[in-house]
Amino acid sequence: MVWVHEAMLEDVGEIILDTETIQKRVAVLAETISRDYEGKNLIMICVLKGSMFFLADLIRKISIPVTLDFIGISSYGEATRTSGVVKITKDLEENIEGLDVLIVEDIVDTGLTLSYLINALKLRKPASIRICCLLDKTAHRLVDIPIDYRGFYIEDSFVVGYGLDFQDKYRHLPFVCVLKQEVIERQRKKL
Ligand code: PRP
Repeated sequence: MVWVHEAMLEDVGEIILDTETIQKRVAVLAETISRDYEGKNLIMICVLKGSMFFLADLIRKISIPVTLDFIGISSYGEATRTSGVVKITKDLEENIEGLDVLIVEDIVDTGLTLSYLINALKLRKPASIRICCLLDKTAHRLVDIPIDYRGFYIEDSFVVGYGLDFQDKYRHLPFVCVLKQEVIERQRKKL
């Protein structure tokens, strides 16, 4: 049984992916990644902030040696849509030259963020770059992104929880859900 504060549950609409479903899928992904990267120099890169929850669960189930680094990305534009103009707000600490990079994302939507990031990291000459994302939302995809490890496809709805936010809130919910429409409208009015 997963505990969530009652006040938070009041805002929650439909739960799209419950905790058990997420954790089971994460375990399968970790097993596949561990097998694929056996004998390689795996570095997992967490794209802040949303991916930290997914990555934290995923990396703890990896059975081979692995290192970890973080990168901060910010996109300009509306709160709920990426504009494609992206900048690095916090760079990696590690030199990734010659390493096998696995970028871990919580969600791929338009693909613009990852497209930018892949191109930026390629310039640093890693041995390889692959993508692992929890959620693949294809409805608004603008750039083709080769997703090597995918948790789930999701429909075109605005979801929060397990790292995903609305106005930087709800990341700590242990499941992926939609917010009640009234909550979105109420919070938008506050801005
Ligand atoms: C989310 C997500 C991806 C990006 C995907 O990040 O973590 O980085 O949007 O969208 P795209 O495919 O349309 O580019 P966000 O900008 O919300 O930052 P956050 O992780 O800090 O919440």
